Amino acid sequence: MPVNPHNLAYWNEVTPQHVTSAFYRTEDFRRGENVLDPVVRDAVGEIAGARLLHLQCHFGLDTLSLARMGAQVTGLDFSPPAIAQARALAEAAGIEAAFVCADVLAPPADVAGFDIVFASWGAIWWIADLDAWMRVAAAALRPGGRLFLCEGHPALLMLDQRAPAGVLQLRWPCDSDQPHIDVGADDYAGADIAPTRTDGHFHGLARILGAALRAGLVITDFREGDRVPWKALDQMVKLDRDYWALPPDLPFVPLSFILQAAKPAAR
Ligand SMILES: C[S@@+](CC[C@H](N)C(=O)[O-])C[C@H]1O[C@@H](n2cnc3c(N)ncnc32)[C@H](O)[C@@H]1O
Repeated sequence: MPVNPHNLAYWNEVTPQHVTSAFYRTEDFRRGENVLDPVVRDAVGEIAGARLLHLQCHFGLDTLSLARMGAQVTGLDFSPPAIAQARALAEAAGIEAAFVCADVLAPPADVAGFDIVFASWGAIWWIADLDAWMRVAAAALRPGGRLFLCEGHPALLMLDQRAPAGVLQLRWPCDSDQPHIDVGADDYAGADIAPTRTDGHFHGLARILGAALRAGLVITDFREGDRVPWKALDQMVKLDRDYWALPPDLPFVPLSFILQAAKPAAR
């Protein structure tokens, strides 16, 4: 299947603005910091020396932060400006990293043999065929390797972003086979671009976990979290430098999840 041209155009346009946005801590990274958000940093565990593939790596900030934690990293994204920026950042920082410009559903054959396949915060929303995405992740792992996926929770994505303070209102499906076509959605990092169509996809937990199982992966951990690194709903409150959450008087709704799954070792 060809890549979605609306999504590719959107990412090509917003990426240069993301590099210089306050949302992405590019300058802190250039100064030598690890800018991977703390929830992911803690949960990803020991990665020193591991061959790690970052799917949908955007312009490489997280990929290169994972490299600063000792991983041998490869980032993959379909946006040429994102990959060009990632390569330039790696070179300027003196970090050895490979970046591949490709559709995540059609990676080159040598994208294989990884110890860890990693993706986070807004990867699967862009994918119509989640079974195919999981098959790519599984195929890229060596036997015994693991998938690490951290995402916004389907329960969060069902909520109306503009509901009045104190009200949680369901607006969107938990899961759907139809794309969610949006024109002129607010960019989470504040990029200022002309209204552009994007096609996203609601994936429920059954679809996400089922896709991992159908790809032959063994689920080893699944947890839910109470914070996300962007202001997903108008009424969210800033917790600290990295995260937004629901106000404390509202009932708990899982806002994020982390799925880890292993590719069984060869017998
Ligand atoms: C929300 S961003 C990922 C964010 C990442 N966690 C970060 O903040 O750096 C989504 C990424 O998916 C990429 N993407 C979307 N569809 C893709 C596809 N079919 N193949 C490869 N990359 C894709 C976009 O170019 C974008 O960089």
